[in-house]
Amino acid sequence: MKRRKFIQNAALTTLGVAVGATLTGCTDENKETTGTAVAKEVTTSKPVIPMVIATWNVPNATKKAWDVLQAGKSALDAVEQGVMIEEADENNQSVGKGGLPDRDGNVTLDACIMNKEGNYGAVVCIENIKHPISVARKVMEDTPHVLLAGNGAKQFAIESGFTPENLLTEKSKEAWNKWKVEAKYKPIINVENHDTIGMLAIDKNGDISGACTTSGLSYKMQGRVGDSAIIGSGLFIDNEIGGATATGMGEEVLKTVGSFLIVELMRQGKSPQEACEEAVKRVIKKSPNYKDFQVGYIAVNKQGETGAYCIHEWFNYTTYQNNENKNHKADFYNKA
Ligand code: GLY
Repeated sequence: MKRRKFIQNAALTTLGVAVGATLTGCTDENKETTGTAVAKEVTTSKPVIPMVIATWNVPNATKKAWDVLQAGKSALDAVEQGVMIEEADENNQSVGKGGLPDRDGNVTLDACIMNKEGNYGAVVCIENIKHPISVARKVMEDTPHVLLAGNGAKQFAIESGFTPENLLTEKSKEAWNKWKVEAKYKPIINVENHDTIGMLAIDKNGDISGACTTSGLSYKMQGRVGDSAIIGSGLFIDNEIGGATATGMGEEVLKTVGSFLIVELMRQGKSPQEACEEAVKRVIKKSPNYKDFQVGYIAVNKQGETGAYCIHEWFNYTTYQNNENKNHKADFYNKA
C-alpha cells in the first residue's frame, strides 16, 4: 500500500474507532444528546457579539467560554477555559485525558492558541499533560518561541508548574487493545461524531481569539502530527477579519492550509459560510479520494457572523450567542 493511502486509511479507521467509543456529540439526525437545542436547518447566525463557536456538540465547553466572556474576560481566556472542559473530560476520546493513543499506546496531544495581536503558541506530540492548550498559551506568553514539541514541550510544561499524569484511561486502553487484535486500516466514513475541538470567541470589545486541541488520529504512527496545532491549518485568527478552525483529516487540512485560506477569503469579501465552502472545495479539488475522509471547518467574521461546512454529513458545531447555547448541523458537500 502506498504511504499516502496507508495514512489516509489509517486515519479513517481511527476516526471511526474513536467515534464509536466517544459519543459525546450528536449521534443521530438532529438528535439532542447533551442538553443543547439542535438547529433543524443549517443556519447562519445573526451577527451578535460576544459570541463563541466550537466544533462538534460541546455545550459544556461553549458554556464555560460564554461564562468567561460574561465575566468580562478576554476572548483568549474564554477559548482557553472553554476547550479545557473537553481536555479534562475523560469520556471524550479525541482530546486531552482519555484521548485514544497512537499504535504504540502513547497518548500524544497537539494544541495551539492564537490571540487578537496575532500571537500564537503551540505544542505538538506532548505527553502526560492534561491541558496542552494552557501549555500552548505559556509558550506564546512566556517564551520567545511559538511551537514546542515532544519531550521539550513536556519539560517546559513541568518547569511551568504543570503536573505530569497518565492520560491513558482504562477505557482508551481497552479500545487500543481491541484495535491491536486486527490493527487493520479500513475506511469508515460518516460516522465520526467527535474529533478535534476548535473554538473561536469574540469578547465584548470585539476582539477575537481561537484555540484548537486534539489527541489527533487514534492509533496513528508514533510522532505523527496533524493540523490542529499548526498555524494557518488547524487554526487562524486575524483580529481585523475573523477566525477559522478545522476538524477531520489533518493531512488534508495541512496540505491546503485551510484556516488561513478561510480568513483570507473573508478578507476578500466572502462570508464565513462562503469561505468555509471554498476551503472544503479546495480539499476536494486536490484529493480525488475525498470520499474516503472527512474535513470540516467553522469560521466567524469580525461582526460575529458564522459559517461551517464539511465534506460528509454529520459534522456539527455549537454556538453560544445571544444567550443561546445551540448545536447546528453543518452543511456538507457530498450529497450523492
Ligand atoms: N484534525 C486532527 C488531526 O488530524 O490530528
